[in-house]
Amino acid sequence: MLDAATTKRLRAVLAERPDRPLGVVLDVGFTNGLASARALRDAGAPVIVVDHRRGALGFKSRGVAPVLAPDPAVDEEGFIDALAELAQVAGRPGYLFPTHDAHLVAVSKHADRIAPLVLPGSHWDVIGPLMAKIPQLELAERAGVPVPRSFMPTTRAEAETAAAQIPYPAIAKPSIGIAFKHAEKVQVLQADRPEQLVDAFERIAATGDRAIFQEVIPGGDDALWTVGSFSTDGGRAVGTFCGRKLVQRPPIFGTCRVGEARWADEPVAYADQLLRTSGFDGITQIEFKRDPRDGSYRLIEINLRTWQWHSLARRCGVDLVGMCYRTACGEDVGRAISGPRHDGRRWVAAVPHLKAGFAGREGLRDIARPLVGLIEEPVFSLRDPKPGAVQAAGLVVGPVKRRLRGR
Ligand SMILES: Nc1ncnc2c1ncn2[C@@H]1O[C@H](COP(=O)(O)OP(=O)(O)O)[C@@H](O)[C@H]1O
Ligand SMILES: [Mg+2]
Repeated sequence: MLDAATTKRLRAVLAERPDRPLGVVLDVGFTNGLASARALRDAGAPVIVVDHRRGALGFKSRGVAPVLAPDPAVDEEGFIDALAELAQVAGRPGYLFPTHDAHLVAVSKHADRIAPLVLPGSHWDVIGPLMAKIPQLELAERAGVPVPRSFMPTTRAEAETAAAQIPYPAIAKPSIGIAFKHAEKVQVLQADRPEQLVDAFERIAATGDRAIFQEVIPGGDDALWTVGSFSTDGGRAVGTFCGRKLVQRPPIFGTCRVGEARWADEPVAYADQLLRTSGFDGITQIEFKRDPRDGSYRLIEINLRTWQWHSLARRCGVDLVGMCYRTACGEDVGRAISGPRHDGRRWVAAVPHLKAGFAGREGLRDIARPLVGLIEEPVFSLRDPKPGAVQAAGLVVGPVKRRLRGR
């Protein structure tokens, strides 16, 4: 049930922009959701942000209506019930912007229960098959896009055969991954020997998922390229950003800590081909790793949603979320590409970056280096200062509390 305070705030946000469809951001715990909410507000939407944590970063953003709802990775039914109620109370159409897979899956699978809140673009018939990694590898083959050497065993015997053939080090990863990541709190399982891969097969199967065995493409975090797109009319990209990660946390198999804009024609062409072949409409992040052995860009994964550092795309003139919302509203948004003119512009979330640097006892110079120059800091904003203030306060309050507790 939406409580009285939530409903009051919601009505106020709706009244401020009476003629526009809602922009609803699902999960605003970190920069992905916060950046989406800000982009939607700037595109003229009345913005609703949904999360399962009262302290979610995006709840602090200016001018939005926060709605507390269960985490769909834990309680999909409860999450959909909450959105259905929101749809009813709001009483107007709206576009959904999921920032994580669990939310994307829940709203596309149960679209009939939450109308007129809809995904702006493709629906479950396209999303269902495309969001899992095994069909993504099959799509890459059809589209002529290179992939890491991969095996998709279905039985333990097949897993043993594959584990005997694959080069090491190797990894095992789940095809869908939502249940696996929730259970194991890691994204991939690393293996140096066949027994470890077979064990990983069993652990992934235990979460009801299928396993992919993959050779590890060598190279550092800066070999991970991202093409961010907004596509319409059956996979035609009208907004294109290209960049790469510089630092992940933890290294090699973690999430982005520092990213940069850098244009490269080859991954962009591959992404366009994947989008056209799949016919997907909406926002995507397609990740490749550049293989230093032959210089090829190999598909790592396709995310059918925004990603953690997408505000860098907007900073480079490619406002994927704004374009998507405005297109859904029937406006002509033209074509936008980041191009080489933004090469070297970095994304770094200052507070998590500092925290990670101090925790890892990195030298001050190493910590400071990414923060200098042309950067896009996704939290601090003079127009919307509260999220930054809260994060900065956390930087101070955490250590002080620990000191007071005598640790
Ligand atoms: N075959 C591979 N070779 C090297 N690194 C990989 C490979 N597959 C995945 N990774 C690394 O692991 C990270 C997580 O894997 P990914 O396939 O993106 O799954 P997800 O993001 O759904 O957990 C990637 O960002 C990349 O850094
Ligand atoms: Mg990934």
